Amino acid sequence: MTVPRLIDSFGRKHEYLRISVTDRCNLRCVYCMPEEGMEFEPSDKILTYDEIADVVRVVAEMGISKIRLTGGEPLVRKELEKLVGMISHIPGIEDIALTTNGIFLGPRAAKLKEAGLTRVNISLDSLRPDRFKMITRGGNVQKVLDSIDTCLKVGLTPIKLNVLLMKGVNDDEIADFISLTKDRDIHVRFIEYMPIGHSDEQWKSLYLPLSTVKEVCTQQEWDYESVDNVKGNGPAQNYRLKGAVGSFGLIHPVSEHFCQSCNRLRLTADGYIKPCLAWTEQFQVRKVIGDDEALRQMFLEAIGTKPEHHEMYKFLQGGQETTHTPTHRRMSQIGG
Ligand code: 5AD
Ligand code: SF4
Repeated sequence: MTVPRLIDSFGRKHEYLRISVTDRCNLRCVYCMPEEGMEFEPSDKILTYDEIADVVRVVAEMGISKIRLTGGEPLVRKELEKLVGMISHIPGIEDIALTTNGIFLGPRAAKLKEAGLTRVNISLDSLRPDRFKMITRGGNVQKVLDSIDTCLKVGLTPIKLNVLLMKGVNDDEIADFISLTKDRDIHVRFIEYMPIGHSDEQWKSLYLPLSTVKEVCTQQEWDYESVDNVKGNGPAQNYRLKGAVGSFGLIHPVSEHFCQSCNRLRLTADGYIKPCLAWTEQFQVRKVIGDDEALRQMFLEAIGTKPEHHEMYKFLQGGQETTHTPTHRRMSQIGG
């Protein structure tokens, strides 16, 4: 039997599955969750590691080779190392990455690497302790910086730092973040704030297009060159300061979408396939886990609904009608 591949109606080949392992988090970043009153899924609604591994086994036969574990915060889920180990033994899986806020990462970095983790992306929106605490509503930036050092030591590299740029909040730290790349094997990725799962008002006041990053390099009189091939870097445009060890990149989902090269699907912690981050479509995969043929069919059905692109840029132009219904989920309930 030939197993069907995950190719959508626009010819995009899907090789990458982002798996959210929990909707919970130890932080409450201002752009992600409310300060209080966030409701989480009860644990019996969350996919077990066996269920997740079953899904991965089936989609690996359909062409998925790259997995990213996300949350919420994936390291609040118990024994994540165990899941990494289970997935790393599945034939066809070549790359297992983790997106984390980094607070709990340091002490677990070596074990995760040993279990088969290949790379980490750490979300870090400020290097200043007070500001970091404000953005994350209580986080300690030193723990994240220590985790970065540990990852460099144990060889979980290259490390990527995700910096969500927000107007008037952290845009004065662009040069500080780029400076981190001068003598460290770190890739800093500046990300545009996307209008997902919260009020338009907040988004409009904080959204900053990434052209700002190049303006900062010009002000600093920094020479930089384009680099390709930062491993696993998908849609980013990448640059390196002349002579630097690390590099930096711009991810601009809003001002210039990169949907034409989209190769990813998402699996939510509560067991739904999400073909597109932006729209509401979701498919309850949990009910067919255990029946490989039904599972394959559901993935094919999901990928069949994948739209050509999102329309977040329409929000910028003020309340235009969109062609699909925007997702009702928060980012932490999707996994970024
Ligand atoms: N826009 C862009 N990125 C976001 N993230 C969370 N919410 C948003 C948003 N609205 C990012 C975080 C983290 C990753 C999990 O998702 O910065 O790096
Ligand atoms: Fe947690 Fe990440 Fe959301 Fe911050 S952005 S609250 S670290 S899931």
